[in-house]
Amino acid sequence: MTKILITGACGQLGSELTAELRNLYGSGNVVATDISAPNAQLGEGPFEHLDVMDKERLERLIDQYDVKIVYHLAALLSANAEKNIDLAWKLNMDGLLNVLKVARDKNLERIFWPSSIAVFGPDAQKKRTPQTTPTNPTTVYGITKVAGEQWCAYFHRKFGVDVRSLRYPGLIGYKSLPGGGTTDYAVDIYHKALAGDTFSCFLEKDSALPMMYMSDAVKATIELMNVPAEKITVRTSYNVSAISFTPEEIAASIQARIPDFGIEYQPDYRQEIASSWPDSIDDTEARSDWNWKPAFDLKKMTADILENLPQVIEKA
Ligand code: SER
Repeated sequence: MTKILITGACGQLGSELTAELRNLYGSGNVVATDISAPNAQLGEGPFEHLDVMDKERLERLIDQYDVKIVYHLAALLSANAEKNIDLAWKLNMDGLLNVLKVARDKNLERIFWPSSIAVFGPDAQKKRTPQTTPTNPTTVYGITKVAGEQWCAYFHRKFGVDVRSLRYPGLIGYKSLPGGGTTDYAVDIYHKALAGDTFSCFLEKDSALPMMYMSDAVKATIELMNVPAEKITVRTSYNVSAISFTPEEIAASIQARIPDFGIEYQPDYRQEIASSWPDSIDDTEARSDWNWKPAFDLKKMTADILENLPQVIEKA
């Protein structure tokens, strides 16, 4: 069985992706790595401490476990990146370049690397932002994602590295918490609603952003990684879309089930980041190249989270 290694496995996406890959391909075949200690969400299976800026350790682990596929998720997200631009550049770029070079030198089968809607800045079309359009991001995180996409395309073109990527929208799940992102409010809001608290939102009520339920994100990632290479026409990173909503709209979807839920708005520096990003995304290429189709809209996502999050909170 092909061995898989995941970096940033303890993160919001990493935790759920690790659990699903272990479920699909066998616990022993998926090596979870992170700088943080493993959490229960990852399930049974090998875990190794790995700082992705340490290329030698990455190489040693690839050899030790005979890894052929890497999901490289370790990165600083948008809001944290604005607070530490040096670390953001170093971690997001050196980490990716280390993985791409190891993939080239050790002839790895396949790499996944996440890009983001943060590649787009104010020059991009705001609604239904197309795959190809001026990007010109205004955040450090966006700069690292645009540069990263170009490195992926370069390593594919020049060295034949089969690296695949998605421009994730904000990812929303109830099993694990995000950290340091601008779209994190859309996870926190459910926790506050269930606790009976008023939610203080750091974005304006009408600030629309592209979002996606975690199970759709995991599905999109695994589908892309299983597509035959010749079907992939985008070697920077694919636009993928699912839902687009404002804080006011997600609050209303919660109020339909918890009528007493209250929200107030106290926008901070993250509003500026959100304002620079698209409202919604056109993902025609993903839909036609590998049949991408999300399963969750806002109503269905809210219903699923409000039903399942209480059990997760109880266990914690
Ligand atoms: N969800 C991420 C963030 O807010 C964007 O990729 O930083």
